[in-house]
Amino acid sequence: NSPIITVIGSINTDMVTVTESLPNQGETVIGDQFKMKPGGKGANQAVAAARLGANVQMIGKVGQDQNGADMLKALKKENVSIRMVETAPKINTGIANIILSNNDNRIIIVPGANDKVTPEYVSQFKEDIRNSDLVLIQFEIPVDTIIYCLDLCNEYNIPIIVNPAPAKKIASDYWSKATYITPNESEYTQLFDFKDRSSGFNDKLIVTKGAHGVSYSMNDEYMTLPAYSVNAVDTTGAGDTFNGALAVALSEKKPISTSIKFANAASALSIQKFGAQDGMPTRTEVESFLRK
Ligand code: RIB
Ligand code: NA
Repeated sequence: NSPIITVIGSINTDMVTVTESLPNQGETVIGDQFKMKPGGKGANQAVAAARLGANVQMIGKVGQDQNGADMLKALKKENVSIRMVETAPKINTGIANIILSNNDNRIIIVPGANDKVTPEYVSQFKEDIRNSDLVLIQFEIPVDTIIYCLDLCNEYNIPIIVNPAPAKKIASDYWSKATYITPNESEYTQLFDFKDRSSGFNDKLIVTKGAHGVSYSMNDEYMTLPAYSVNAVDTTGAGDTFNGALAVALSEKKPISTSIKFANAASALSIQKFGAQDGMPTRTEVESFLRK
């Protein structure tokens, strides 16, 4: 009887280069390591939620290439349903070029098939969305699709968590259709840091601030829950683990502060291993971490 979570979002192959020095313009440097890993904010959040015990189904697209086949296999292995993930012809699977250098990451995304996750495509799965306990979306798919999902979830009265990453502007009326909005600090600054406090979404914001914890407001009171301090190996996907875990806790009707603590713990555990999805904890791992 686990809750059904539908993730509508991106699937990428992460091409991760670890290097001590970064090249300047026109320069070549020798790096230390290269690895290909499953990624994409949609897929990452789906895997995070599935490891924590939710019944997760994903709506998305890969391309007709080896990366696409590998990404589908990886999702399947994690018990994420790929029934609604299509292999799109004549386009590549999304990739993320990730440069990890001295506790800093720089990412270039080429969306490929993720751009084909259109409203028309998603509309085929209306009934699956209607039967979900919660919907989770990010901003690596077209803006039209995000808006479509917000409208649909409102119509069906399904809670929807919107992780506006990477930041893209949408018409401000739409933010109020989200149940929760989970920007990180820089996305918050780009999208919400303005004076108009009457916009009707203040009580929906959950702002993740890395080592500085998570801020949210409830009944007009502003609160910050601290992050758990751990030895970070790779923070890529920390926000995705947070969102996936938050979705699980909220779909189980846990109170907001309990849900944020649970998600903070999951995300702290995940950053202790290299790779966005490597290190994402199971339910037992989060619970024993919280007991310590
Ligand atoms: O949030 C981390 C993810 O962002 C990576 O897996 C990469 O694919 C990019 O989409
Ligand atoms: Na990790």
